Amino acid sequence: MSDQPPADHLKAQGRALIREAALVAGKWIPVGDDAISVHSPADGALLGRVPKLSAAQVDQAIEAAAAAFPAWARTKGKARGEILARWAALVTQNEDSLAALISLENGKPWKEALGEVRYANSFISWFAGMAERLDGKAIESPNGEDLILAFREPVGPVAAITPWNFPAAMITRKAAAAFCAGCPVVLKPASATPFTGLALAALALEAGVPAGCFSVVSGEQDVVGGRLTGSELIRKLSFTGSTAVGRKLAAQCAPTLKRMSMELGGAAPLLVFDDADLEVAVSGTVAGKFRAGGQTCVCPNRVYVQAGIKDAYLEALTARVAALTVGDPFAPDTEIGPLIDEKGVTKVEDHIARTVAAGGKVLTGGQRMTGSYFQPTVIAGGDDELFRHEETFGPLVPVFTFDTEEEAIARANASEFGLAAFLFSDDLNRAMRVGRAIESGIVGINSGLISNAANPFGGVKQSGFGREGSTYGIDDYLQVKALTLALR
Ligand code: SIN
Repeated sequence: MSDQPPADHLKAQGRALIREAALVAGKWIPVGDDAISVHSPADGALLGRVPKLSAAQVDQAIEAAAAAFPAWARTKGKARGEILARWAALVTQNEDSLAALISLENGKPWKEALGEVRYANSFISWFAGMAERLDGKAIESPNGEDLILAFREPVGPVAAITPWNFPAAMITRKAAAAFCAGCPVVLKPASATPFTGLALAALALEAGVPAGCFSVVSGEQDVVGGRLTGSELIRKLSFTGSTAVGRKLAAQCAPTLKRMSMELGGAAPLLVFDDADLEVAVSGTVAGKFRAGGQTCVCPNRVYVQAGIKDAYLEALTARVAALTVGDPFAPDTEIGPLIDEKGVTKVEDHIARTVAAGGKVLTGGQRMTGSYFQPTVIAGGDDELFRHEETFGPLVPVFTFDTEEEAIARANASEFGLAAFLFSDDLNRAMRVGRAIESGIVGINSGLISNAANPFGGVKQSGFGREGSTYGIDDYLQVKALTLALR
């Protein structure tokens, strides 16, 4: 990673990318009186505003996507791949500024934001390479004579609704897969972080994505979400966000029977067995838990450590967490930035208070700082019930103890969620046994960082369905069309 440029320079670069607009059918709709204000979580400063689009304006974006679909679907996969490759090159050229924009609107430290831009770009490159490899199957008919040709075709216009915690990566993971398949996209980025999505869309158009194929709409969730989910022209919804909102959107999609991918909430367990490498387990916990300040759906939400290694693990973990540097996103030594807003802070406070009331002991941290900054916190003991059902989404590691492998698996699975899980053990047989027994879409073994373009990302149970990234990530954007050829 390059040395960090001076903060003032980065902030100016980030601000230069801000477009106070929405993008509808290739046209920038400037902000008017009815607007959403976007503030920096670091200092509350107003960064800019985006329009609250009317239902008719959202419909225009949807209609443009439907109109652009046939030609985009017919465009050769190789050509779509080349456009994606140009988009990736433009993102690389602008990575410092895009990272600065993410730091401004999301608050994550600039170096981590740069990591996010590269993570986001890895999806564009991944799907650029896949666009000319979308093959089908030739199947022999049961009569032994006819031939069934199964083609994979794009599902149609896609609505993408994305969260604030990864203002770039959650967009490219959906949009690049859609473009690879030949689907246009109408994107609704989170209202807290719309500018990164708008900047990415500007680069996509510059790279050659046709005008109607990428609109970015902003506004009231009920208006924008309502039009996107209610439209017959939108054939698929890809959503990343909370389980509660996912359920509501799924119900809204039901009348038009849209395809859906739902990447929803998690309550990730992290298990540390007596036979784990202590250093690997502690580093993995810190890397996984404090990514984005604890604000990801895959951050370990509850740690279970086996009795024999508990004291050593807690001592090492507490020392490591106490040494984390909290500060301004643009300060070069910052490891943890602010939480997204006051609601995020009160949730962490609430989880700490409830755990302490249940007998937990704060080993480090535990307090809010100025604004929406919060001390990285470790708590040992108390009741894990809360953490099995509610995501903290902040810099808190609650640690509980277990005795046997069976108990660890039972406690890990005692949750309605099943997105990510982590386990640390140097016994390969145990690691595979436990990894397979955990009810979770993705499992990290001896690693706290498992998100990358090659990993089929997604959950089970109330964490949703569908997979993103990887060779599986294209499937949700394709449907099978079968032609039977009767041979004489
Ligand atoms: C999320 O928090 O929704 C996704 C995190 C990731 O891609 O690792």
